[in-house]
Amino acid sequence: MTFERIGVVGLGIMGAGIVEVFAKAGLQVVGVAESEPAVEQGKKNLATSLSRAVSREKITQEQADEVSARVTWGTDFELFAECDLVVEAAPEIMSLKQQIFSELDRVVKPEGVLASNTSSLSISAIAEVTERPEQVVGMHFFNPAPVQKFVEVIAADKSHADIVEAVAELAKSLGKSPAVVADKPGFIVNKLLLTYLNHAVRLLDEGVASREVIDSAMRELAHFPMGPLELLDLIGLDTSVEVLHTIEADTRDPLDAPAASLLSLIASGNKGRKTGSGFYDYAEKHEAPTSDDQELKIQVHATLMKAYLHTARVMNESGYASQADIDMGMKLGCGLPEGPFETMDHFVA
Ligand code: 3HC
Repeated sequence: MTFERIGVVGLGIMGAGIVEVFAKAGLQVVGVAESEPAVEQGKKNLATSLSRAVSREKITQEQADEVSARVTWGTDFELFAECDLVVEAAPEIMSLKQQIFSELDRVVKPEGVLASNTSSLSISAIAEVTERPEQVVGMHFFNPAPVQKFVEVIAADKSHADIVEAVAELAKSLGKSPAVVADKPGFIVNKLLLTYLNHAVRLLDEGVASREVIDSAMRELAHFPMGPLELLDLIGLDTSVEVLHTIEADTRDPLDAPAASLLSLIASGNKGRKTGSGFYDYAEKHEAPTSDDQELKIQVHATLMKAYLHTARVMNESGYASQADIDMGMKLGCGLPEGPFETMDHFVA
């Protein structure tokens, strides 16, 4: 199976990042969004990321131009007709994803593979609406897609093993480190990550600590690349809430329900970086939050770390994923210095 022509549906930050990953690997890419303004935004997202790479001397202007030239843009799904693989990166709404997959099934050539970049929804339920469920898989990238090395390749009920394997091989050819994971709510990384992030918001809501204390505690004491509230702003508060709803529907644990301020920020239109504000305002350049309250930072770090490690252990013991895959996912998907089981080893040692 060869993948030469790739389609991407949805051109937000994540969709445009996925376009960039494929185009940088030398593949022809078709990027489609629902409207002309959404296509323009997708082009802008790609251009911003490429010019950042040029200014950091990661690629030359000539290489950036070659990457851009490999991408065709539009609003018409018919553009996907000859694609070997189409990756959907639309909002986290099952009915919308099913509508997109049923349309893709109609227009994409019969041997074409269809993949969803969903953050947590069931790939089997998405595949169900197509006449080719054995050719439907999950291909889940992490933000920012050009940076994070991990890709979850999700095998659904009817996914053909050869297709799952071929998509994992494709991810490797993009310079990523894939893991084949089961079709469970939140898969590996989002199940652990969002549970931890939601816990951090609850500390904020309960008045335990300020956003600066919470974020600087995890940056400085856990050595995570971002604090939890900053990371929620990067992921998008709406996407985060959708993932939490999926997890909560599975666990029925009230602690997995989205924390209050996530919902109130969304209601006031503050969905994170993509809208210019969330827990922080992004009108100005965002600087790493700081706080001098060392004692409270130690307390916040201990509380969040304990809960995070507990969730990782429960996930492993309940058969969600192996310790090695959880560790790899958190390191390569979220840029953490070590995985939770490696952290636990220090405590034991
Ligand atoms: N697009 C492209 N490249 C980017 C980028 C972007 N938006 N943001 C940063 N980069 C690149 C930079 O060019 C730089 O590359 P280089 O090392 O080759 O020069 C590198 O990333 C580091 O960037 P900076 O020095 O500007 O910034 P930081 O060192 O602070 O790193 C970060 C930024 C990579 C975002 C880092 O803070 C990080 O890894 N944060 C954690 C992000 C995370 O957890 N992501 C997963 C979220 S879960 C998810 O996405 C799943 C979904 O389903 C919800």
